[in-house]
Amino acid sequence: MTQVISIVQEKGGAGKTTLLSSLAALMVADGAKIAVIDTDPQRHLEAWAMKERTPLDWHYEEDDERLIPTVKALKGAEPPYDAIFIDTAGFKSAMSIYAINAASLVLIPSKANEADAKGAMRTHAHVQSVAESMDKTIASYVVMMDIDSHTNITQSVIDALDAQTIPRLEAMCGHRTGFKEMTSTGELPTGPAKREAQKILAELQYKKLLDYYGGAKWQKSA
Ligand SMILES: Nc1ncnc2c1ncn2[C@@H]1O[C@H](COP(=O)(O)OP(=O)(O)O)[C@@H](O)[C@H]1O
Ligand SMILES: [Mg+2]
Repeated sequence: MTQVISIVQEKGGAGKTTLLSSLAALMVADGAKIAVIDTDPQRHLEAWAMKERTPLDWHYEEDDERLIPTVKALKGAEPPYDAIFIDTAGFKSAMSIYAINAASLVLIPSKANEADAKGAMRTHAHVQSVAESMDKTIASYVVMMDIDSHTNITQSVIDALDAQTIPRLEAMCGHRTGFKEMTSTGELPTGPAKREAQKILAELQYKKLLDYYGGAKWQKSA
């Protein structure tokens, strides 16, 4: 069955669209059939996908009540999609609740600052409360974005998340030009950004959070 992965974080600018487009583009490069749905009125994901430098199917959905039917229709596609990614706006909304409900995995990006970390903690609690109300299991993991590993703030944000036992991927994305550039190129991240995004996929794979099997190459290259 097609896996739905939603990227949610109630604090804006935390790296949702960057993380989503990087993972989706790397999976496409690996041969996966991917659909992405942008639900953010700012339409940044759509703008990236519309450049058509990464062969995937993209959709924009502005009506929250249409999101689940749209996902259901995509899940029925033949041949099936390997994954559907949903991008969300940086605030709590009915749309983000539907996006969480549709997913089996929620990734919560957080930059290394207090506002993002607090947003990540609240988002994780929100995802778990939606999951509980729906009586389903939804894995949610924080992914550190745009970090400079040499700074104290990075470590203190990580320590704060870990102290609250918020699930977090060990793989992190540093402050990289490759992530910035991909927005305008519509392509994969390049250089160190690419290797870091591959490590995220490799970790999702070995934690059995990713249904699509990209072979051993993500681990090898990571
Ligand atoms: N790892 C990173 N390295 C460099 N810049 C990043 C990184 N992650 C995000 N950014 C930048 O931060 C800004 C916000 O990221 P974006 O993905 O648009 O956040 P969101 O979708 O959560 O609003 C963008 O300018 C993006 O290029
Ligand atoms: Mg965005």
